[in-house]
Amino acid sequence: MDPTVLDSAALDSTALDPTAEDPTAEELTALDPAPGQLPQPARRPTMYFIGVSTGRSSIRTVFPRWAEELGLGDVALVGIDLPVHAPAADYRRVVEFLAADPLSLGALVTTHKIDLYQACQDLFGEIDPLARLMGEVSSLSKRGGRLVAHAKDPISSGLALDAILAPGYWACTGAEAFLMGAGGSAIAISWYLTRPERGADRPSRIVVSNRSTERLATLAGLHAELGTDVEVRTVHIPDPGDNDGVLAALPAGSLMVNATGLGKDAPGSPLTDAARWPAEAIAWDLNYRGDLVFLDQARAAGVRFEDGWVYFLHGWTQVIAEVFDVAIPTSGPRFDELGRIAAAARR
Ligand SMILES: NC(=O)c1ccc[n+]([C@@H]2O[C@H](COP(=O)([O-])OP(=O)(O)OC[C@H]3O[C@@H](n4cnc5c(N)ncnc54)[C@H](OP(=O)(O)O)[C@@H]3O)[C@@H](O)[C@H]2O)c1
Repeated sequence: MDPTVLDSAALDSTALDPTAEDPTAEELTALDPAPGQLPQPARRPTMYFIGVSTGRSSIRTVFPRWAEELGLGDVALVGIDLPVHAPAADYRRVVEFLAADPLSLGALVTTHKIDLYQACQDLFGEIDPLARLMGEVSSLSKRGGRLVAHAKDPISSGLALDAILAPGYWACTGAEAFLMGAGGSAIAISWYLTRPERGADRPSRIVVSNRSTERLATLAGLHAELGTDVEVRTVHIPDPGDNDGVLAALPAGSLMVNATGLGKDAPGSPLTDAARWPAEAIAWDLNYRGDLVFLDQARAAGVRFEDGWVYFLHGWTQVIAEVFDVAIPTSGPRFDELGRIAAAARR
């Protein structure tokens, strides 16, 4: 078997991407391997983006401008697309390639955070405590030749949430959070929202729904291990219509999070058009691109809605800082300037 060919070559990842036919800036994705292939060895310092439809992301146009602003020099960003729940052997081959290739410096991982962590744990030279706790990896970098796995989502999703909700929001409203999807991001968000340091500023309850039961068990297990003292209820919802019922029972001001990837990684929304939203609800889609039906539904219902743009900014700056070993602040004039540059290059 050709060692540069991945098992998932037999799966059609573009079938999952509703925007696949949109044009891409060819020069920005010229170094990307063909679907199901490994990249060529890097010829300049290179960061990878491991996702599902990486060619469509705004990071392709934003990264070169950020690299200039941050003084990173002649660096490249290369996308590696894998289908959702790709074979473990593919995750291993990608990580083994990255670990062995001298100018491949690291990667941002999205969508595959849990699956990649599970498949590759033994390949990491160092695992940060949050990655170990959450069983996921969103950042791969190298220090002294060792591959380092970080979970950055607990930090970046928290920073994004702080930009959406005023301090004291939960204490004032007594509202709940409803996370649809129990993947890496939902684990990170539920951890951030229930941290004891937040005192009274925590949801009165967190409800998490998911299509498969395994992810729910993992999330519940994490909170049991942490001794989380906010109620975290897990609900198995094989059919999206069932999320409507959970939504209808939530108190005013509750936060609804689409953490399923539906609208970007696969078409649709975790709710139906008939869903009844609580008064003063807030809808947050973790994605900012794709056909975000969930946000359309919120807009049509007159519900406040937020997309994943700020999450994108924090997620990428956190991982770029690790991969290129540079300091990037999470707020203040320098962060704001990076935000302005990204907004101008957004597509
Ligand atoms: N804006 C940003 O920068 C940013 C940052 C982080 C994440 N994101 C996006 O947020 C999304 C979630 O990320 P993640 O890392 O948490 O992904 P993930 O680990 O793949 O989790 C997605 C979860 O949603 C569930 N799900 C998928 N399709 C479903 C459906 N049709 N009905 C019900 N549940 C379904 C999956 O359940 P199963 O176990 O049954 O498959 C899985 O547990 C992705 O699209 C990602 O790109 C955006």
